[in-house]
Amino acid sequence: MKQRGISFIGTGSALPSKMLVNQDLGHLVDTNDEWIRSRTGIKTRHLASENESLSDLAFQAGLKALAMAKMDPSELDLIILATSTADDLFGSAAQVQGLLGATGAVAFDLSAACSGFIFALATASQFIRSGVYEKVLIIGADILSRWVDWSDRTTCVLFGDGAGALVCTATEKEDNFLGFDLNTDGTQNHCLNLPYKGKTKYLIHDVSIRQGSYAPIQMNGREVYRFAVAKVPEVIERVLLQVNLTTKDIDWLILHQANQRILEAVAKKLNILDEKVVTNLSHYGNTSAASIPIAFDEAVRKGKIKKGDLIATAGFGAGLSWGGAILKWG
Ligand code: UT7
Repeated sequence: MKQRGISFIGTGSALPSKMLVNQDLGHLVDTNDEWIRSRTGIKTRHLASENESLSDLAFQAGLKALAMAKMDPSELDLIILATSTADDLFGSAAQVQGLLGATGAVAFDLSAACSGFIFALATASQFIRSGVYEKVLIIGADILSRWVDWSDRTTCVLFGDGAGALVCTATEKEDNFLGFDLNTDGTQNHCLNLPYKGKTKYLIHDVSIRQGSYAPIQMNGREVYRFAVAKVPEVIERVLLQVNLTTKDIDWLILHQANQRILEAVAKKLNILDEKVVTNLSHYGNTSAASIPIAFDEAVRKGKIKKGDLIATAGFGAGLSWGGAILKWG
């Protein structure tokens, strides 16, 4: 049986309306614009306010991607929401499905931190290839500002909120999803996490339960930096080898937008010219699972990424987890 192909036909993104500039952060912690810009490349970030929910941002991004794809929400078979910051610990994908009116779609959350979008893309591809589903909406969305310790200068300057989306569909004509490679190293989990931190409550005798919330984001920045610069070029090289291509064939490199220095170091290791590296980090900071689809959407809407362009993409972050994929737009 001929393998079903996959094509990519719509992108969308949504950002909260409020922005925080580097200078504002100087009022919260001992930091300054010069440090943040030179060490990370970030100038501003958007932060969700009280009345902006994760589901709503994901819904807005999804709606725009569907409009570009000229697809009615009712046509969707599957919605995968990559997020680590759902409004509801049981998951937010169902709410997004409801908001979209995607009555024919099953929806679920996928949690793989900043690698979430790549993991969701790989998952969606399996459903399409196997013939189970045809029309899939992948959304990467996060509101990490809810979980940042706003008194910790080593993390609070880095993150922003947002959502991005991609519509994929089965096709017999062509196959624009060339390959992927996913990885996890749980032994390094301590380098970046957002752990449960409940308070013990004694119910009766020695029976206790744990109640409460999560500790804020904890990160060993230097370790994660080293990990990213080592693993991301490796994973991209591996996928390229799998599909018989080389870095010379790549039109665009879309990496998880964590740090401008990481983007440059990865591109240099791969011998990819700076002008092929898609970057929007200075405006949005690190938006976790949303960063790749937001960057993708902007590059498509600006006309930079054109039909048939070959894109190498990779995500990395908590888990630790990392993954890469090679695809063609269109
Ligand atoms: O999305 C998940 C993946 N996450 C990442 O990819 C993050 C990877 N890591 C990084 O991007 C970088 O490690 C950071 C941007 C987090 C930090 O940059 P760095 O160049 O690795 O800085 P550092 O941690 O080595 O700190 C250098 C100095 C330290 O001071 P001393 O010890 O040299 O006196 C820090 O205390 O900078 C200090 N510092 C700051 N100074 C002003 C740390 N944060 C700040 C700050 N403002 N916000």
